[in-house]
Amino acid sequence: MSPGLTAPRGTADVLPEQAAIRLRVEQTARELLEAAGYGRIETPAFEATEVFTRGVGAATDIVEKEMYSFDDGGGRSLTLRPEGTAPVCRAYVEHGMHKLPAPVKLYYLESFFRAERPQAGRYRQFWQVGAEALGSEDPALDAELIVLLHQLLTRLGASDLHLRLSSLGTPAARSEYRDELIDYLRANSDRLSETVRDRIERNPLRAFDADDPSTGAVMEQAPRLLDRLPANDLEHFAEVRRLLDSAGVAYEIDTTLVRGLDYYTRTVFEFTSDELAAGQSTVGAGGRYDGLVELLGGPPTPGAGWAAGVERIILASPAEAEPPPAPDLYVAHDGSRPAAFNLALDARAAGLRAQLELAGRSLKGQFKHAERLNARFVAVVDDETVTLRDRSAGSERVVAHGDVVAAVKQALEA
Ligand code: HAM
Repeated sequence: MSPGLTAPRGTADVLPEQAAIRLRVEQTARELLEAAGYGRIETPAFEATEVFTRGVGAATDIVEKEMYSFDDGGGRSLTLRPEGTAPVCRAYVEHGMHKLPAPVKLYYLESFFRAERPQAGRYRQFWQVGAEALGSEDPALDAELIVLLHQLLTRLGASDLHLRLSSLGTPAARSEYRDELIDYLRANSDRLSETVRDRIERNPLRAFDADDPSTGAVMEQAPRLLDRLPANDLEHFAEVRRLLDSAGVAYEIDTTLVRGLDYYTRTVFEFTSDELAAGQSTVGAGGRYDGLVELLGGPPTPGAGWAAGVERIILASPAEAEPPPAPDLYVAHDGSRPAAFNLALDARAAGLRAQLELAGRSLKGQFKHAERLNARFVAVVDDETVTLRDRSAGSERVVAHGDVVAAVKQALEA
């Protein structure tokens, strides 16, 4: 025998028990988001690399170290999508969606790929459910998005949630602050980690995200962007907070919240859960990205959205795995295979969960198997008649072939 093959590191197979929980995430997201006017979008698993270098930002961890990029065979670089916002904006531009009434509301549930160090809650292929709304600057859009993510996470049973909220202002407001922060970081560079020091010019705000304690101590005293924002950005932020207050969604303002993607403007937020390990505790996150569509070649278009990691939602929502639904009917036979085969088909056509013996078991083995599956009825088919056993009532009767489905349905309804 040749050695067994395994799934690549940081990826996982989804087996039927887990698939059932994921289906619940999908159904809940769909109900919630469609009720709020979001329509499903699916984009390709890979995109031109430029969608991410331009969209997410060349000086981000994602673009610098985490992308799976490859040559398409013709000298063009393609990348397995590491996130969904830039592809959705690419599609928005490509399909002229700016001509649609604003905001254009889209949601997705897809897999994403990042070459990260695998650990609990951090994978190389993972799923996100995400929502993006394009074409409006209204702070009510930000607040509605945050409330929707909060509702999704709570409906799915995510526990010990905390919402952190901040505003990054517009790029214009940020550029003056950036210079101030660069000066401050340069003045303290001997106490910064090497990564942060190397990025002072290119991405100074990321210094707030460093987990190294010495950098952390420097950043505690660092000037805060929120204290430097102009009146219009502050008003926008105040209105988002007012709406969250009135909706009863609790949050904490975190002036160190910067996010790992460069496209954010104004509102940014993250939901963490104490159920998850530190470092991977963010269940879902997002914010406003008013310059992204233009960066990808579209007309100036504001936008906002979020994405939540499906595996992290499940980790943060401790729930018993549900057993698979038991069959209503198990069709056994001792040689009358065509009649049994057709009975199983008829039962399914009538809406019953029905299974047929498919592994050549003896009649005794078939009874055992029906018991293992916890089937409510077992039909033993022979050429003349069917013996229908009700396993929960412990009763048995003989019925004509044509009457089995009706008899089972009647009993289930009673
Ligand atoms: P993100 O913060 O990079 O944002 O990812 C969002 C969520 O995806 C995280 O909070 C986490 O739950 C999950 N996630 C990210 N990386 C991994 C991983 N390696 N393994 C497991 N789960 C992971 C974005 O992707 C933005 N596109 C969100 C957004 C949408 N902003 C505006 N609109």
